[in-house]
Amino acid sequence: MNLTLKIWRQRHPQDPGRFETYQARNISHEMSFLEMLDVVNEELMLAGKSPIVFEHDCREGICGSCGFLINGVAHGPWRGTTVCQLHMRAFKDGDILVLEPWRATAFPVIKDLMVDRTALDRIIQAGGYISAPTGSAPDANAVLVPKERSDLAFDAAACIGCGACVAACPNASAMLFTAAKVSHLGLVPQGQPERYRRVRDMVGQMDKEGFGGCTNHGECEAVCPKRIGLQFIARMNRDLLTSSLWRPRTGDTLHALTEA
Ligand code: SF4
Ligand code: FES
Repeated sequence: MNLTLKIWRQRHPQDPGRFETYQARNISHEMSFLEMLDVVNEELMLAGKSPIVFEHDCREGICGSCGFLINGVAHGPWRGTTVCQLHMRAFKDGDILVLEPWRATAFPVIKDLMVDRTALDRIIQAGGYISAPTGSAPDANAVLVPKERSDLAFDAAACIGCGACVAACPNASAMLFTAAKVSHLGLVPQGQPERYRRVRDMVGQMDKEGFGGCTNHGECEAVCPKRIGLQFIARMNRDLLTSSLWRPRTGDTLHALTEA
């Protein structure tokens, strides 16, 4: 099939940028979206032109490197799918596709479709870790975690830090990302010692980075390739509220805190 691509080209962060039109010819339905861009880039390079810059690494939906807007939708039309896992059978011959980088003040464009997402790294650095010595892999029954809680922690831990939630949100909020990171640690016993400091520090860093607040649009959940749910934002808000009230008391036990 043949497609027309209108792609955002921006040479450097200060360049005002503009859309340029390209033709993608003889594209197989079996190709991934990024393979289609590889074909376009090869033609550009053969013609002595600068290839379109986009981020990618694993190309199997697990690293979180890839991501841009396709016709205004983060990661394109398939739900629960990163752009590297999107296939050309999602489109038809003659389609016109508009490709843009994530749009958010906290994600300045580096070049073309590539943005600087180190703001998300700094949120993690503010508290997305544990200090409990975990040693080597423990026996499965050494630290008891109810199945429901471990499943929920696992759901939150599926976040790959792609930033689509920020790009889709009209407030450019990083609440879904931060909530996923806060929750996957806050739901297990090993994450309890820093639980309330963590949420305060990570939300504080999120604000400092210039991300907006959540006003319940739900666009983040709709585009998240890992289907992280809005309930994690509610959980983070509860922890944040508790963090301003909670002080450790004599007699608090790990179990009691885990159940809180
Ligand atoms: S919450 Fe979803 S959309 Fe946001 S960074 Fe994590 S995986 Fe990406
Ligand atoms: S390239 Fe790793 S998730 Fe897309």
